[in-house]
Amino acid sequence: MRKIVAGNWKMHKDRDEVSAFIAALKNVPVPTDVEVVIAPPFPFLAAAAEQAAGSLITVAAQNCHQKSHGAYTGEVSAPMLKSIGVKACIVGHSERRQYFGETDEAVGEKIAALLEQGITPIYCCGELKEDRVGGKHFEVVAAQMKAALGALTNDQLKRIVIAYEPVWAIGTGLTATAQQAQEMHAHIRTLLATHGADVAAHVPILYGGSCKPDNAAELFANPDVNGGLIGGAALDINQFSELIRIAGAQ
Ligand code: 13P
Repeated sequence: MRKIVAGNWKMHKDRDEVSAFIAALKNVPVPTDVEVVIAPPFPFLAAAAEQAAGSLITVAAQNCHQKSHGAYTGEVSAPMLKSIGVKACIVGHSERRQYFGETDEAVGEKIAALLEQGITPIYCCGELKEDRVGGKHFEVVAAQMKAALGALTNDQLKRIVIAYEPVWAIGTGLTATAQQAQEMHAHIRTLLATHGADVAAHVPILYGGSCKPDNAAELFANPDVNGGLIGGAALDINQFSELIRIAGAQ
């Protein structure tokens, strides 16, 4: 399966920094079977999509609203994203769940709205530290997946990307070990297989949480780890290029 190296820039970079990063990224060789994704903040998506057009870079949003339009001050819909050439969108990130009250139900609706527009949802799931300490991590991720993905058809499921992001590893410098990542990714793959072997074989499962050049080779080498959703290390062109190279070497 292809490997995906996706940068979630969160609330970082201004217009000039976004443009300079993309200009530099266009010169970075992309290995065969590696897909490169960047998710800049909303105001820069249109310019980023234009600048990346014709290159191997996919531009993604970090969130969207589930409705197509309406009185939802401050929100951005999937059809709006489509109209500016955005091809993918992160949904259900733990920061959205934690700080903005995003529920599994809303995440499910966002995924359906994106698929309707032909935009690839990058669906994030992952347990809190107390879930891991209490040995509930497999159960928690299974419940998240069921709630957000349960209503999708197999054809829809085949068009999503999953990112496993243990919340305790995000921005903390703590990373899941290669074994912890592989175990959870295999669990997610098994859950997908309940919908059909073709679904399980199709859906890339990315790891996220303090993934950087130092630990990426070990993580990406696992059979069920199909790349990474990168935060901090994706803000730096040298580290991000190195992650792309490492993904290609696995
Ligand atoms: P860090 O790589 O900074 O831990 O962030 C991971 C993340 O949340 C990506 O979505």
